[in-house]
Amino acid sequence: MKTYDFDTIIDRTNTTSIKHAFKDELQVPHDSVPLWVADMDFRSPREVCEAVKAAGEFGVFGYSKGHEDYYQAVIQWMKKRHGWTPEKEWMICTPGVVCAISIAVQAFTEKGDSVMIMQPVYHPFKNAVIRNHRRLVENPLLIGEDGRFQIDFTQMEEQFRTQQVKLFVLCTPHNPGGRVWTREELEKIIDLCLRYNVLVVADEIHHDFTFPGHPHIEFAPLNKEMEQRSIICTAPSKTFNIAGLGLSNIFIPNKELREKFQEIMDCTGLDVVNLVSMEACKAAYTYGEDWLEQLLVYIKQNADYVQNFLKENLPQITMMPMDGTYLAWLDFSGLGLSQDQLNDFLLNKAKLWMNDGEIFGTGGTGHMRLNLGCPRSVLVQAMEQLKDAVCIQMSHS
Ligand SMILES: Cc1ncc(COP(=O)(O)O)c(C=O)c1O
Repeated sequence: MKTYDFDTIIDRTNTTSIKHAFKDELQVPHDSVPLWVADMDFRSPREVCEAVKAAGEFGVFGYSKGHEDYYQAVIQWMKKRHGWTPEKEWMICTPGVVCAISIAVQAFTEKGDSVMIMQPVYHPFKNAVIRNHRRLVENPLLIGEDGRFQIDFTQMEEQFRTQQVKLFVLCTPHNPGGRVWTREELEKIIDLCLRYNVLVVADEIHHDFTFPGHPHIEFAPLNKEMEQRSIICTAPSKTFNIAGLGLSNIFIPNKELREKFQEIMDCTGLDVVNLVSMEACKAAYTYGEDWLEQLLVYIKQNADYVQNFLKENLPQITMMPMDGTYLAWLDFSGLGLSQDQLNDFLLNKAKLWMNDGEIFGTGGTGHMRLNLGCPRSVLVQAMEQLKDAVCIQMSHS
């Protein structure tokens, strides 16, 4: 089998990369290490690059729509990797999962209706609720004895019972923190959602990133009734590092819900699919499995490296043990800094550019999100910088 290279550093500085290229505009130090936006610093599989190149060489980029081979590539991936065979008719392409979540909020709720999200969670979830003038119901995650996020089902039930929640936007696997929800956890969610008549948007964009012992469990096939009340959001974008191509595949098994979703899509004019991204997605799902398997080993080793480094060198900073994803959740509260001081310390002293934990909502204070989707040497450098900066900080206090 071919061995893929995740070690080479690819310079993205003079590109359009949000993560790397806008340090002046965003007022961060030029020498800070970008470890924030959730894309990876790896080149996509060769077949994906070739598919994009072939589309470019053909050179005609007219309005496009998926052929049977596109649908089959996506469906086969879902079947093979996730044990669920969705029907072709259930699938709607959108330019992204975030926009699909907003469309679902508009399609399935009215202004003022209650929509639940967990906290902390990927911050655009909150925007999709609030900016669409819906009522936000926050279900805070607990931290279990093992240091991982746990769902507060008692509070969830209470919130469903008292706050007329219509829709629940579930992040599965969870960003940040990398929890891959177990079958039991998902079944409890399903039980409550069916009991209180709550529709679920399951954002499964990270579903391919799981570590050994923590399989991703597809939400929809767990329960036939729930399948009819679910909107399943998937994409090749995180898995194959093609987020900039803008394409996601949304599955809505229920015809009535699908038509409502499509109606909002039509209102927005978002229904044209980018032909280059379709070619990339098709190639990724057809040829990318070996690349992904090796990537998962690499990411897990990156996670282990950071976790062990912190344990051995900086016990006052802890990393939540991860079941999957490439987005680590670091707890800096042991440093005793305010959030402003922490941001300033990391950016200007340690020269590390991570996501401020507070943007992910309740529970985010004292935390930062670290992107592990980069060559190991970048993380080694980042950890050494962090250690040096903490030593200097401690010697001054
Ligand atoms: C949970 C989650 N959903 C959605 C997205 C973004 O999806 P898209 O780029 O398809 O809008 C991200 C990106 O980090 C994410 O972590």
